[in-house]
Amino acid sequence: MKILVIHGPNLNMLGRREKSIYGEKTLPEIDALMKKEAKALGVDVVTFQSNHEGALVDFIQQQAKSARGIIINPGALTHYGFSLLDALVDSKLLVIEVHLSNIYNREEWRAESVVAPIAEGQISGLGWRGYVAALQILVSKLKAKPSR
Ligand code: DQA
Repeated sequence: MKILVIHGPNLNMLGRREKSIYGEKTLPEIDALMKKEAKALGVDVVTFQSNHEGALVDFIQQQAKSARGIIINPGALTHYGFSLLDALVDSKLLVIEVHLSNIYNREEWRAESVVAPIAEGQISGLGWRGYVAALQILVSKLKAKPSR
């Protein structure tokens, strides 16, 4: 079972960027934790980060056929990324949205997510642990659900 773990703009800066908000871990460290958890759960994860919405759309289009689910932190595209949203819808995959910070107790504009209405669920404000929890939940949901 293949799961896509997708990170949007500026998440390549984790570990250097606003550490009091986003935490100390770098993106390669988070991806390594996801691969470790995937191994324990008996699934494969493919990780991808881009600062460009079109590159994220290309990745989803290329990978969707062979994948079962998506964990995505869309970064600021969360709030306005409609082509990313369309690609997630077209993938027909189960999507869990993750945010390191709590998008509801920050600036007002961060409290709106264009992805949330199509996501199975959202984890916001629990740091890197949110990604690991999302993977555990996604895999248990997918194991309970017949594949397409
Ligand atoms: C973020 C929250 C977004 O508002 C922000 O633009 C990010 C990261 C988070 O993980 O908390 O880049 O998605």
